[in-house]
Amino acid sequence: MAHLSMHTIVLATQKGGSGKSTLAIGLAVAAKKAGHNVRLIDADPQETLASWHKRRVDAEPIVETIHAAQDIEPRLRALRDSGVTLTIIDAAGGVSSARTAAIRHADLCLIPARPTTADIEATASTLSLVRAWNKPFAFVLNQVPSRGRRIDDAAETLADEAAIDLGEVLARPFIVMRNDHQDALSAGLAVSEYEPAGKSTEEIRRLWNWIEARLGADAADVVATSPFAGLNLPIRAEPAAFTL
Ligand SMILES: Nc1ncnc2c1ncn2[C@@H]1O[C@H](COP(=O)(O)OP(=O)(O)O)[C@@H](O)[C@H]1O
Ligand SMILES: [Mg+2]
Repeated sequence: MAHLSMHTIVLATQKGGSGKSTLAIGLAVAAKKAGHNVRLIDADPQETLASWHKRRVDAEPIVETIHAAQDIEPRLRALRDSGVTLTIIDAAGGVSSARTAAIRHADLCLIPARPTTADIEATASTLSLVRAWNKPFAFVLNQVPSRGRRIDDAAETLADEAAIDLGEVLARPFIVMRNDHQDALSAGLAVSEYEPAGKSTEEIRRLWNWIEARLGADAADVVATSPFAGLNLPIRAEPAAFTL
């Protein structure tokens, strides 16, 4: 029987190296462990996911490559009809019609960013595209220094005090920079398979829980504004970076 409900998540941001592919893999395997029938779509010509899959012993999660924008929508429909409950699209950095199509057909856009000025500035163009299509979105702070607990503290305080609902657009927890993410990728594994009892595994699992809850939340309530304004980031970004 065809499943009527499939969620589609896209990981998108202009900046390469922010963690789109790593998070796509980590979240796909976390969602699979949580019971989802997961499909990964590699829409990046660099084919990081496809290469990762070749290094894998386990065929799951299946990785498909799609580069033509017009192929995305019919493929998502076919996946939904075949019983896939979660599709995660790794969109290319830069600007491409495939990236736009992925965002158009997503239920939730995740915008990964390292806590650096360049990464945070690079989210602006993705955010404007996401807003143009009126899509629910959340930022994922990735490769956060482990001694940077103050980032979390600052965000926590803001979430309590801000007039905007920061909790809706800034995913939790932040993902700390750890070698096991890189080692897992090289080994054709997700971090939870590489280091099952590790801190990174626990963070990705909790991030998946956050995303799953967010997928269920009413998209109309999301306020598209800068969640970084006022955050005590190691390299401070100007709030103007988010003025669209
Ligand atoms: N939290 C993290 N800690 C350490 N290394 C990470 C983390 N997230 C990603 N990386 C590494 O950073 C590099 C870029 O990540 P990647 O997922 O390929 O970014 P993108 O797909 O956005 O270009 C990869 O070598 C990856 O293993
Ligand atoms: Mg990538």
